[in-house]
Amino acid sequence: MLALSFPTILLLVHCYAILSQASEFAKRADDFDVFEWIDPLIGSKSGGNVFTGATLPYGMAKAAADVDGENTGGFSTDGSRITGFSAMHDSGTGGNPSLGNFPIFPQLCPEDDLNNCKFPIGARATHYKNDSIQAKPGYFAVTLENGIKADMTVSEHAALFRFDFPTNGTGNGNSVSPLITLDLTDLWQSRQNASISVDVAEESETGRIRGNGTFLPSFGAGSYVMHFCLDLAGGKVKDSGMWANDRAGTEPKELYVTRGFNLFYLQAGGFVRFQGPVDNPISARMGISFISTDQACQNAEREIPGPDFDFDGLVTKAREAWRPKFEPISIETGGVNDSMQVSFWSAIYRTMISPQDYTGENPHWESSEPYFDSFYCVWDMWRVQLPFLTIIDPTVQSKLVRSLLDIYQHRGWLPDCSMSTSKGWTQGGSDADNVLVDAYVKNLTGIDWELAYEAIVNDAENEPLQWSIEGRGGLMSWKRLNYIPYLDYDYLGFGTNSRSISRTLEYSYNDFCLATLAKGLGKDTYTKYLSRAGNWQNLFKVDQESIINGTDSGFTGFFQPKYLNGTWGYQDPIACSPLAGFCSLTSNPSETFESSCWEYMFFVPHDIRRVISLLGGPETFLRRLDFFHTSGLADIGNEPVFLTVYMPHYAGRPGLSAKRAHSYIPSRFNSSHAGLPGNDDSGAMASFTLFTCMGLFPNPGQNVYFIIPPFFEAISITNQLTNKTATIRNVNFDKEYKNIYVQSAKLNGEPYTKNWIGHEFFTEGWTLELVLGDKESEWGTREEDLPPSLSAGGTEVL
Ligand SMILES: *[C@@H]1O[C@H](CO)[C@@H](O)[C@H](O)[C@H]1NC(C)=O
Ligand SMILES: *[C@@H]1O[C@H](CO)[C@@H](O)[C@H](O)[C@H]1NC(C)=O
Ligand SMILES: *[C@@H]1O[C@H](CO)[C@@H](O)[C@H](O)[C@H]1NC(C)=O
Ligand SMILES: *[C@@H]1O[C@H](CO)[C@@H](O)[C@H](O)[C@H]1NC(C)=O
Ligand SMILES: *[C@@H]1O[C@H](CO)[C@@H](O)[C@H](O)[C@H]1NC(C)=O
Ligand SMILES: *[C@@H]1O[C@H](CO)[C@@H](O)[C@H](O)[C@H]1NC(C)=O
Ligand SMILES: *[C@@H]1O[C@H](CO)[C@@H](O)[C@H](O)[C@H]1NC(C)=O
Ligand SMILES: *[C@@H]1O[C@H](CO)[C@@H](O)[C@H](O)[C@H]1NC(C)=O
Ligand SMILES: *[C@@H]1O[C@H](CO)[C@@H](O)[C@H](O)[C@H]1NC(C)=O
Ligand SMILES: *[C@@H]1O[C@H](CO)[C@@H](O)[C@H](O)[C@H]1NC(C)=O
Repeated sequence: MLALSFPTILLLVHCYAILSQASEFAKRADDFDVFEWIDPLIGSKSGGNVFTGATLPYGMAKAAADVDGENTGGFSTDGSRITGFSAMHDSGTGGNPSLGNFPIFPQLCPEDDLNNCKFPIGARATHYKNDSIQAKPGYFAVTLENGIKADMTVSEHAALFRFDFPTNGTGNGNSVSPLITLDLTDLWQSRQNASISVDVAEESETGRIRGNGTFLPSFGAGSYVMHFCLDLAGGKVKDSGMWANDRAGTEPKELYVTRGFNLFYLQAGGFVRFQGPVDNPISARMGISFISTDQACQNAEREIPGPDFDFDGLVTKAREAWRPKFEPISIETGGVNDSMQVSFWSAIYRTMISPQDYTGENPHWESSEPYFDSFYCVWDMWRVQLPFLTIIDPTVQSKLVRSLLDIYQHRGWLPDCSMSTSKGWTQGGSDADNVLVDAYVKNLTGIDWELAYEAIVNDAENEPLQWSIEGRGGLMSWKRLNYIPYLDYDYLGFGTNSRSISRTLEYSYNDFCLATLAKGLGKDTYTKYLSRAGNWQNLFKVDQESIINGTDSGFTGFFQPKYLNGTWGYQDPIACSPLAGFCSLTSNPSETFESSCWEYMFFVPHDIRRVISLLGGPETFLRRLDFFHTSGLADIGNEPVFLTVYMPHYAGRPGLSAKRAHSYIPSRFNSSHAGLPGNDDSGAMASFTLFTCMGLFPNPGQNVYFIIPPFFEAISITNQLTNKTATIRNVNFDKEYKNIYVQSAKLNGEPYTKNWIGHEFFTEGWTLELVLGDKESEWGTREEDLPPSLSAGGTEVL
């Protein structure tokens, strides 16, 4: 864990070369080292599912210990047992554990007898020493309770593990021979078939194990093949061979396993044993590739040259790859405590673990465009994570967008979700549309906007045969009836015929984004899509009530399902809320996805003002929002809720947004291992924290950030594309957060009354100064101060 004994009052990290602006800040604290403020273990238990191991920014190789407890991201601090060490993971995802292919495992076998080694997962699983965990960007270490210490680091496409064996041994004095096994499995045990061969001469100094396997993506269709190339070094090889179930032998040297009777899952793999005792750690260099075993070996040899693998050098390289990623941001803490700072810097780190850069590793087509994977899923990422990268790493965000477009060009569809090079399941709308348009309104560079337009029109107009993995379903009804009907009749394509309400809402926003792009590119189709952007209103049932625990909530008007014939169906407005049980694609599929009618009532990002008037005006709207957030109906651990925190901005009460934000941070997003309210989803929970603490929260797809006071005295961000530095600074800041209401604001020294601002703030490097007080004020409350909304005062919205 972190030792938290740093100067706290004045803390500044700097920034590219912005010396001219540096005088605005107190001088940089010379001893500031961002790495001391990053705790990769945040979100490592209680459902955060964060990847805690070693990775480069957006790196393909992700080395970690895998456990038999909460192992979706590999490791967890839940105190469960370690089952192996593997080189591929995803971060923060839900559902089935992802990747974790070809885990290796070190052990000392009693009496030095192969028959006494533990091969299958259940047999070999071993507890770790709780206080032995060391996690830093690019480095992870843990000690098993039997004294074997493992530590690891990575390059882009390879991982380097070290296993340090205690010399006290377990059998013949000190002469026990360290054994390393490799298991032909993944975390989910989804292997369909696999091949392995050991290529080691006895007495040689190194042992190589190579192979491949076919596995299932953890939330998607089809299968994928992964190849590996493992080199072991650090002693003289004693023997090697294969194992199956709990038996092993030195013959044969290769093996092919498949699914047998009743799809029986054979546990099998290879092993190499070194002559004991060894006084050095055994090193294990694991190269991986989606292309071929040869490429896996080449990746490893190129990135981690042998024969003596430079572990420490690799750790340093990994740190140096991470360091510039934090440089665009600096904060002046104003005395805010260490735990808030750790939460902040660690969140930045978590936004760049996934998606992964698989350029050069695409097994499906050749292209000169970047190839990124683990958009897991766009539904989770478009709202805050990708908008955050747009600010802090726009160069990479442009590559992500180009990668989405390259997938469109070669697969015919933008992805809605992807992992392990496979197509993932669609959750709601075609949300890559929103990502492309967000990039457009924020002027990201190097993107073919005509191609983007074509790709989004394809989503809007053409129904794929399988809209469970791409595009949209129900397009006949969407075009004819202007909503997605409950129990739709759709013979054009197939998908899970649920979520009619949330799909109607999401398709409306997708079409709004399309209209924005069409207008920008001068296409006259924009009026058609603008009209479809209003389809959400067709599912608003004005007299629908919500009775909770037998008591009328007092709020009327909710979205409800509607049949093809125009008759209303019914879904209890609290269904799918935390009060009533979770709804996903497979568990309890409903007309809303992973959230209730209560929550989806606020999901009209382009026309909140219309929602406010439908619900009876600002006062009723605010009372409803308040009830929603305080009754247990809001699910702060899932993405659809995020925007609801900032909705008071549209009702002329920006102070209430600030107040709500403080009710969730740090109480639900903090620096403890269990400090996330839900799956981090590749950095979505992280980005909610970041935008909120920055005091600027996006409404992605629109050039809009809502303003609240930052949680630190000041924050500066340097834009990679322009090298200009934007600063948002609080005046009258207090670290107890009593003064959280903006009284007045100045933009570049001029009075500023709007309660929102555009992305130019970042690209032009503007300075926003907020004077704070402990009561709400008139600031940002007038009609002309509110963020744009399609049907009210909203000329800027398109
Ligand atoms: C290790 O931590 C886990 C989870 O917090 C706990 O259940 C377990 O008791 C701890 N083990 C020891 C030896 O303290
Ligand atoms: C070897 O040492 C480790 C700690 O260094 C200890 O946990 C383990 O029990 C010891 N094993 C034996 C057989 O003494
Ligand atoms: C391995 O499994 C995959 C997926 O089931 C299948 O397509 C492939 O043919 C199998 N390979 C072999 C060599 O059996
Ligand atoms: C996996 O390895 C085996 C053995 O080398 C080889 O026959 C097979 O073609 C490989 N499979 C794939 C998909 O590359
Ligand atoms: C840090 O400050 C926050 C906000 O004031 C507070 O909620 C939290 O309890 C503090 N944490 C510690 C460890 O003092
Ligand atoms: C994007 O570029 C246009 C044209 O140069 C400019 O008017 C607009 O302000 C820019 N938007 C942003 C967010 O930088
Ligand atoms: C419309 O369809 C639903 C579902 O089939 C049915 O229950 C309802 O009675 C129909 N309404 C009318 C007016 O036919
Ligand atoms: C409904 O009742 C349950 C159990 O009694 C309680 O936990 C919950 O807070 C109540 N919900 C509302 C919105 O009053
Ligand atoms: C930290 O966040 C977690 C997850 O939301 C929450 O359960 C816990 O109570 C929070 N801890 C503190 C000290 O606020
Ligand atoms: C920004 O600074 C970098 C590094 O100094 C330089 O390479 C780049 O050309 C600059 N870009 C602009 C737009 O000034």
